[in-house]
Amino acid sequence: MIDQIRSGYFTEEDSAEVVTSRNSAAKDERLKQVMDSVTRHLHAVVKEVEPTQDEWMQAIKFLTETGHKCDDWRQEFILLSDVLGVSMLVDAINNRKTGGATETTVLGPFHSEDSPNMEMGSNICLDGKGEPLVVHGVVKTVDGLPIENARLDVWQANDEGFYDMQQKGIQPEFNLRGVFQTEDTGDYWFSGVKPKYYGIPDDGPVGAMLDKLGRDPNRPAHLHFIVTADGFEDITTHIFVPDDPYIHSDAVFGVKESLLADFIKVDDPARASELNVGNPFWEVTFDFTMAPKR
Ligand code: BEZ
Ligand code: FE
Repeated sequence: MIDQIRSGYFTEEDSAEVVTSRNSAAKDERLKQVMDSVTRHLHAVVKEVEPTQDEWMQAIKFLTETGHKCDDWRQEFILLSDVLGVSMLVDAINNRKTGGATETTVLGPFHSEDSPNMEMGSNICLDGKGEPLVVHGVVKTVDGLPIENARLDVWQANDEGFYDMQQKGIQPEFNLRGVFQTEDTGDYWFSGVKPKYYGIPDDGPVGAMLDKLGRDPNRPAHLHFIVTADGFEDITTHIFVPDDPYIHSDAVFGVKESLLADFIKVDDPARASELNVGNPFWEVTFDFTMAPKR
């Protein structure tokens, strides 16, 4: 085997070693480590599956189509990583020791870097559609102290299950998105709409793959948050509606028990007008706990 590798000639038996031995003069050690591992695992898959030439070309076509489906508003590779459980695995590896901090979950492909800053208490629903929802809570340290000026970047789908960037020209730009800054008490509050479950985009190669695998594309209802504050670990997470029909079968494996929130229906016209929402409305209280930066 060593002779084969030294000769540089390719053999089925030593395929991975022949390839990885060419990386011995790598200028980037981490890249070498990653590519050696990718090569070994990829060769193992091919040896197990033994694809025909046609099947291998199909795999290449699938990845090509995945790339072609991507643009500024659509990220088919994130979707692929999500449905394969890889996004959640990377998340789990990078958030092992949260020490009582709020658990994290997938980012998903619909975050916008340009969401508008909003005054505390604003309504992020710009088209008045859906059942009103008031969301509030406190951002605090693992010791329970309030965190002032924590930034909450919030986004959600509308009551038909679409994000603004999926319905350009139908939903107003930045519908159901906003960035809030906590008060000195750590409090935050805003209104939106009661989320509903939705199917992840299935009009591309990832959707076609899920269909062929007999997999359900639905995600249970949720709101997205990225919570950041100076000196603390970022939290990319969701809060979920616990009685959602898809809560145990999330297409991207993002549900964690600690992220199930209580959505309570309130029928109180006086409170509704005080909060500037329609009556009846839904209310959810959810605190975020942040760990000090590692
Ligand atoms: C989302 O929650 O926005 C999402 C996450 C993963 C895939 C598709 C959508
Ligand atoms: Fe989502």
